[in-house]
Amino acid sequence: MRKKIARRGLVMGALALAAAAGIVSAQQKQVNVLCSVTLPWCEALGPAFQKETGIKLNFVRLSTAEGLARIRAEKANPTFDAWFGGTGDPHYEAWSNGLTTFYKVKDYENLRRDLRFAVGLSYVPIYQGILGIGINPNVFKAKNLPAVKCWSDLTKPVYKGQIQIANPNTSGTAYTFITTLITLMGEDKAFDLMAKMHPNVSEYTRSGVAPRVALGNGSAAIGIQFMHDMVEFKKQGFPIQIIAPCEGTGYEIGGLSLIKGTRNMENAKAFMDWAISPAAQSIGPKTGAYSLPSNIKTPVDDDTPNPKDFKLVTLDAKKWGNPTVRDPLIKRWTSEIFPLPR
Ligand code: G6P
Repeated sequence: MRKKIARRGLVMGALALAAAAGIVSAQQKQVNVLCSVTLPWCEALGPAFQKETGIKLNFVRLSTAEGLARIRAEKANPTFDAWFGGTGDPHYEAWSNGLTTFYKVKDYENLRRDLRFAVGLSYVPIYQGILGIGINPNVFKAKNLPAVKCWSDLTKPVYKGQIQIANPNTSGTAYTFITTLITLMGEDKAFDLMAKMHPNVSEYTRSGVAPRVALGNGSAAIGIQFMHDMVEFKKQGFPIQIIAPCEGTGYEIGGLSLIKGTRNMENAKAFMDWAISPAAQSIGPKTGAYSLPSNIKTPVDDDTPNPKDFKLVTLDAKKWGNPTVRDPLIKRWTSEIFPLPR
């Protein structure tokens, strides 16, 4: 009898241990991702990743500059393990500030050379997006507005209150606009253009992708954002025409970073290895995100704007992502442009 009880005790103990181990491994099989692409893409990542690896993915969606601010605030005690998407400059700044650490993903060599070389061993390039101007031809017709062909056209008083673009304090897209203009015409001329354009801006949105909503529903005639974000709305049937500015345009090298100090290193690395795979990169266009994938083996959707078709300026990723350049530029915009009367 006593033996039986002892054996039962042993079995129960073993079961309890197994259950505890199960809980621990279930807890360990998670990854917390800061996600800076569009919400549908962020939402689609988790189920696909879990199906492939068994690891659960939790995410919070924040625009790129907001994401940088968040990981900076959490430096001592990071809640994220990896950062997926968003423009590259804040990823580069995060790495420069010791907030992220470079992880050479397994198939790193399959990523486009030009993108890898541009950012060095700071973050992992996951896509490229080209900046453009979107117009709603119906609004143009109704208000009898002259055609937009160039960045410099955006300063014309005839467009008063007609433009939407994001705020560089929160959005990486808006910062790409600033670096594109500076590369094209020098800093003072770029700030002069932005000052003259300011009365034409009805709203500086929080996220870079937001202007397409106002553009699509006709409450704005002009939106400045990545071309691929407008492709999606065009495909949905909204009247949007995408314009490549005559002076040339800039681009983003979307980022993927490992958060420094994560206590979940293995799962974070597994996520990053998976995220650059052709299967994972093909999720983007399925959710309406038509940026150009970085992996040369990922099929490119026909609707993806291709850098080869546009006059692109060369943006120096290491310069524009450097905190000693990026922070003062955003400060200058905030003190010189944003408070101007409209
Ligand atoms: C959208 C684009 C991405 C870009 C991101 C930047 O999601 O599709 O290519 O990286 O916006 O967002 P932000 O809000 O920081 O401008």
